[in-house]
Amino acid sequence: MSKLSTTTWPARHKQTFQQLAEYVDKFGMKSPTVLEVGPGASSALLKNLLAEGEGENLSFIANRLRAGLRNIDSLLRHIPFVGLHSFEPGELMDVLPSQAKLVVADINPRVVKAIAKQYPQVDARVHNFAQSPLDVQVDVIVCLCVLVRAAEPKVIFKNLYESLKQGGLFVIDNRSRTNFGSPSEPLVKLAAQIWRKPQMKDAGV
Ligand SMILES: C[S@@+](CC[C@H](N)C(=O)[O-])C[C@H]1O[C@@H](n2cnc3c(N)ncnc32)[C@H](O)[C@@H]1O
Repeated sequence: MSKLSTTTWPARHKQTFQQLAEYVDKFGMKSPTVLEVGPGASSALLKNLLAEGEGENLSFIANRLRAGLRNIDSLLRHIPFVGLHSFEPGELMDVLPSQAKLVVADINPRVVKAIAKQYPQVDARVHNFAQSPLDVQVDVIVCLCVLVRAAEPKVIFKNLYESLKQGGLFVIDNRSRTNFGSPSEPLVKLAAQIWRKPQMKDAGV
């Protein structure tokens, strides 16, 4: 079984998700198919104790406490019978149009099982993007803090790029875009972590 990677926490990408919602609206995507890759999960036991966001408003002591809780969470999550809780699918659904279809894929079966239970309306799949793209073409891909720790990140990037429709939105952390994307996978930058795949006509074809 694939191992669980580093911890995640609530509202980690709040600003990016809000910006994404604005671009989805701007580009007239009323019922987009959205693929979220690698949402991660925390232990269900600590889900209500993990502080939101990046902690920039917390005191030094509160930040230390928060770091300690994350470490405990990392340990707990590796115990196979400890339940998991995934934040990102719900946070995305909160900002996307109600007609959006959300497909969530992760290499880890425990994460996917938790998501299927938490969000029955989501199409939750175990999938390794280092092996193949998904069998659907999507309007939006969200893949944050996944490639930097994954095996075969350039292959994953390529498989995600292939899964994205022309004119689609790609939400990915800057480090992954810079280190693992290639010039043959052009993207137009819209915001800090949001890119758009050019349409053929944009490329003058
Ligand atoms: C560090 S967590 C990121 C969690 C969350 N997106 C965040 O920003 O906090 C990375 C996630 O990517 C998943 N992952 C790693 N390699 C993958 C692959 N090749 N295909 C699909 N998911 C993968 C892991 O199982 C994990 O859930």
